[in-house]
Amino acid sequence: MAKPRVDAEYLKEIEKARRDLRALISNRNCAPLMLRLAWHDAGTYDAKTNTGGPNGSIRNRQELNHAANKGLETALAFCEEVKAKHPKISYADLYQLAGVVAVEVTGGPTINFVPGRKDSLESPAEGRLPDAKQGASHLRDIFYRMGLGDKDIVALSGGHTLGKAHKDRSDFHGQWTKDPLKFDNSYFVELLRGESKDLLKLPTDKALVEDPNFRKYVELYAKDEDAFFSDYATSHKKLSELGFIFK
Ligand code: HEM
Repeated sequence: MAKPRVDAEYLKEIEKARRDLRALISNRNCAPLMLRLAWHDAGTYDAKTNTGGPNGSIRNRQELNHAANKGLETALAFCEEVKAKHPKISYADLYQLAGVVAVEVTGGPTINFVPGRKDSLESPAEGRLPDAKQGASHLRDIFYRMGLGDKDIVALSGGHTLGKAHKDRSDFHGQWTKDPLKFDNSYFVELLRGESKDLLKLPTDKALVEDPNFRKYVELYAKDEDAFFSDYATSHKKLSELGFIFK
């Protein structure tokens, strides 16, 4: 992949914003929300039409009002504080940088971040993000549309090692792991333990243990955290660069 065209000054601003994001995310305990923001901006990508993706369009009211994005206005407001200090940085880069920093400050793998995304205010129609009430074939429909595969689906679902579901946002309630502010492989360990009254499993989480081709990755990641971290970092980088052409 060719190198992006950002100048030295832009790179310097990225490093400053990275530091500001580290401080902001630890002060406000908002790593899960920031990771979800990055994922929801990127996860609308459609490879066939090269539309959606990590382009900052989630800040458009119309897209923010999509049911899947409930609660994310807080994350956008936090990012606005960083944008005010570093106005040169595109929203698209800022949201993806926030996702990368969220994983890093909670103890997850380092994700290689390449700046240079362009902003857009063109929002795709509602319905491109996954529906938690469905199963394996729906997950494949959604992630294959982005150009991602089975391994990416399982590795990225490990993002649920962080955070909680909120009744007023998604109609689900609870957290996936015992420590929702620590990025580790416990999501997969808990998935293999099966139903528990304290921890949440969405239908789409359960699909990962029920489908044999997904399950083999769940088993690997539950027993080998290094394998999870390495695959997660690769898949997260792909997600953060969907449709992002360096030219
Ligand atoms: C939260 C669904 C994939 C990261 C949630 C919530 C739902 C959901 C229903 C609860 C929202 C709320 O009530 O606040 C799904 C489905 C996925 C998926 C169906 C399909 C595989 C991902 C991916 C990532 C991710 C790929 C990141 C790599 C998160 C995080 C939260 C969350 C960090 C917690 C947010 C918070 O604590 O405020 N997801 N998600 N999810 N999701 Fe996902």
